[in-house]
Parts: sequence; structure tokens; C-alpha cells
Amino acid sequence: MFGKKKQPKQAVTVDERLQHIAFIMDGNGRWAQRRGMPREFGHSQGGATFKKIARYCEKVGLKYMTVYAFSTENWKRPQKEVDAIMEILDQYLDECLADKEEQVHFRFVGNLSIFPTSLREKMEKVERESADKPFILNVAVNYGGREEITHACNELIREGRTEITEADISEKLYTVGCPDPDLIVRTGGDLRSSNFLLWQSAYAEYYFTKVLWPDYSTNDVDEAIAEFYKRKRRFGGV
Ligand code: IPE
Ligand code: IPE
Ligand code: MG
Repeated sequence: MFGKKKQPKQAVTVDERLQHIAFIMDGNGRWAQRRGMPREFGHSQGGATFKKIARYCEKVGLKYMTVYAFSTENWKRPQKEVDAIMEILDQYLDECLADKEEQVHFRFVGNLSIFPTSLREKMEKVERESADKPFILNVAVNYGGREEITHACNELIREGRTEITEADISEKLYTVGCPDPDLIVRTGGDLRSSNFLLWQSAYAEYYFTKVLWPDYSTNDVDEAIAEFYKRKRRFGGV
């Protein structure tokens, strides 16, 4: 998926202070509606933007990227829209399986048990076949921060635990093995987390932009990164 494509022009690089960016890819529906097109069209454009941005994030030296692709609440949408998003996901998995050159280790984070077996098996295959690649890309599908924490607690209960630590919960999250995001970018103009990475975002820097996700560009990534480096992270210290 990434290997053969033209590489984007790279303006910035990151260091150890910025290893993980997460994106709330919002605004696909509005982007399409403003063009008099059905919302589904916005999701396919959003898919193309996602590929471009993922390629760029790998290139600038990030180690981890997480994208919010479909939330536990997004099932409330019209069936036609949900079906279109699932179709885009399915096609994307096929592309991932076909392209052996990409340098991306895919992980699908969320409660995957809700998906049909065929889709789940495809996700598992993509994860397995990309597991030796250096850039970790978490794709959050049927993901909800509250669901994730509840699921983690239930796992610990199933193990017979009566007392637990913060580390125990972190170990049971879908994102296990991934450091917390340093920067969370939300496109689309809304100023909320919408149930994304509730546990992991405790000390993340947030960056909000009005740009709708299908319009989001590599220059916009540069801007978010530049803003990140202006922030002073104190983690509760002075
Ligand atoms: C984000 O774009 C993608 C998903 C939630 C799947 P939206 O579809 O929420 O776009 P807006 O916010 O309605 O414009
Ligand atoms: C958040 O966007 C979820 C994803 C981007 C997948 P929503 O469009 O679902 O968020 P709300 O409903 O505006 O809070
Ligand atoms: Mg939205």
C-alpha cells in the first residue's frame, strides 16, 4: 500500500519527544455534503487521505500512529453509511494483503468480536503478515475508550484478580505495547474526544483544526508537529 507510491515532500522530522500521533479523522460527511455528494463519498476520500497521512507520518520518523476510524457509537448511523464504511475497510485490508513492500505494522484496536468472521480473519492476517515492520499503525475500529477500559477490567476479573493497578489496566488495553500518544489531532472543528483513547490520553497534547479530514494535508501535519514542539509538557511537575 505504501511502498510503490510517490513519496510526499518532507518538511519536518521528529525526535524522541514525539513518537506517537493519534488522529480523530473527523469531517468526512460534511466534506461530501458541502459538495452535494452523499456522505459515503466523504468516507472514500477520507480513506485516501488516511493513506497519504500514514505514509507521511512514517516518513517524518514517527514510531506509532493511531487513527480513529469507527467508534462504538458510529453504529447509530444509517445502515447505508455503515455498510459503506465497512466496505472501505474490507477493500483496505485487501490492499494491505496485496502490498508486501509497505513498512507498516498494522494493528486493529477495538472490540473486534462484533465483526463478521471473514473480516476479523482478514484483520488478523494483515496484523500477522505485517508484524515484523517497524512503524506501528493502530487502526481503531468499533473502538470506544469506555468499552476498552471496561473490557480490560473484565479481563482482570476473569483472571481472578481482586485488586488491580494502573499498570494492570494498561496491560489489558487494545493498545498494549504502544506508548501513550504524545499528540492527538482532531480534524473537523469539534473540540471533544468522542470516547477516543480515554485512558491513554491522560497527558497527551491536543491539537484541533477546522480542516475537514478529506482535505487534511501533509502541511497540516507539519503545522500540528510545529505546535507540539512549542508546548511545555509538565506531566504534573513544574
Ligand atoms: C468521521 O467523519 C468518520 C467516521 C466517524 C466514520 P464523519 O462521518 O463523522 O464526518 P462529519 O463529522 O459528519 O462531517
Ligand atoms: C469521532 O467522530 C469518531 C471517528 C472519527 C471515527 P464522530 O463524528 O463520531 O464524533 P461526534 O459524534 O461528532 O462526537
Ligand atoms: Mg463526525
